[in-house]
Amino acid sequence: MSAPKKLFIKTYGCQMNVYDSERMAEALGPSGYVTTDSADDADMILLNTCHIREKAAEKIYSELGRFKPLKAAKPDLKIGVAGCVAQAEGEEIMRRQPMVDLVVGPQSYHRLPALEAKAGGGAKALDTDFPEEDKFDHLAARPKAKRAPTAFLTVQEGCDKFCAFCVVPYTRGAEVSRPVDRILTEARDLVERGVREITLLGQNVNAYHGAGPDGDWSLARLIWDLNGIDGLERIRFTTSHPNDMSDDLIAAHGECEKLMPYLHLPVQSGSDRILKAMNRKHTAESYVRLIERIREARPDILISGDFIVGFPGETDADFDDTMALIEEVNYGQAFSFKYSPRPGTPAAERSMVEAAVADDRLQRLQALITKQQRAIQDAMVGRTVKVLFEKPGRLEGQMVGKSDYLHAVHVTGEVATGDIRPVRITESGPNSLGGEIVAG
Ligand code: SAH
Ligand code: SF4
Ligand code: F3S
Repeated sequence: MSAPKKLFIKTYGCQMNVYDSERMAEALGPSGYVTTDSADDADMILLNTCHIREKAAEKIYSELGRFKPLKAAKPDLKIGVAGCVAQAEGEEIMRRQPMVDLVVGPQSYHRLPALEAKAGGGAKALDTDFPEEDKFDHLAARPKAKRAPTAFLTVQEGCDKFCAFCVVPYTRGAEVSRPVDRILTEARDLVERGVREITLLGQNVNAYHGAGPDGDWSLARLIWDLNGIDGLERIRFTTSHPNDMSDDLIAAHGECEKLMPYLHLPVQSGSDRILKAMNRKHTAESYVRLIERIREARPDILISGDFIVGFPGETDADFDDTMALIEEVNYGQAFSFKYSPRPGTPAAERSMVEAAVADDRLQRLQALITKQQRAIQDAMVGRTVKVLFEKPGRLEGQMVGKSDYLHAVHVTGEVATGDIRPVRITESGPNSLGGEIVAG
């Protein structure tokens, strides 16, 4: 048997790319590849890319430039670009970086083995179709090896919302839900291999409506079924859109014991004028009321969000509305970005807010979020929370894991990866909590 070839995958962007990278590595197994952590000894380098903001997309070209000497030293090294830049820019990537052998869009990963076989030695392979067939049906079955206690599982992909700033509907395509039986099979398989927490993924995960044994199932229905899997202890999902937050899903947050008290629910802006210009199809008020209903169902839930500042047309008054919404909601976590115009999206045609103004707004927004985040985190001190331990910490004898609220928690003591233990929180640092395991 010939020695296995080495595959180096570098992943950018969202959790779905993390999931996809794993699937791509598995798909290339039968072609003789095993993964490596170093680009230097790789036979194939695959960049799984993100197109969401200009910086993310441009980074790919500088990263490719860094591989030039490797390719020069090893001419049969194959270099591939996958993910959302691959979908958005296609052949243009090979024009800008001729050393790229292969370009594959997110809906064509099941064709990766054939593309890999074709590419190299001067031959190029490109696939950015949106094929009719379900790519997940064709991706190789997972090897039965033991794995980390937390895993992602894609249940829905693509988006039909067309927010005016966003490339996702173009790079991931139309909204598609995977059938229930495939998801349950994959979840059981993960649990058999040691997984205790599953995060269900979708660009619009709460719009999930996959085919079940008795018609289409909602995300809540799916979560209730996953709740019945022995050995699975925690369920999370991301990312949701406010307009798809259905009554059964809100209720599940109060009733379903394995569904964790954490919800990522992006609002983007607190100004109705800007929300309209963004084509978000909800108001600031409807979002705040929604959060109230969710908190009625689950009072201790930690809310996380996404914000864009400096969207075209955003005035000081609009920004003040965003700050007021943040004050009202009180976020435990939030991701905030300066607006970045993306080719092909409606907002890219509009005139930009001055960069210095946008920078200043971003700073002020982030300061407010950090303050809220720290206060919520500090209030954990003295409480006992359950922690799923994931890996050793930086210090000798230390283990780190995540609480139900997704706070990173470190302890010193006798715990193993995969254990879930009650921890009394004793300290709150900038990025994590510290605590002691409660005997019992
Ligand atoms: N599907 C998810 C997330 C999409 S991308 C959702 O609907 O919420 C993640 C975040 O990136 C978005 O929530 C938004 O805040 C940000 N984002 C998307 N496009 C952007 C752009 N053009 N400029 C700046 N931030 C952007
Ligand atoms: Fe993008 Fe999310 Fe809007 Fe869809 S709902 S267009 S993924 S920001
Ligand atoms: Fe980026 Fe594509 Fe995810 S653009 S955020 S990798 S869906």
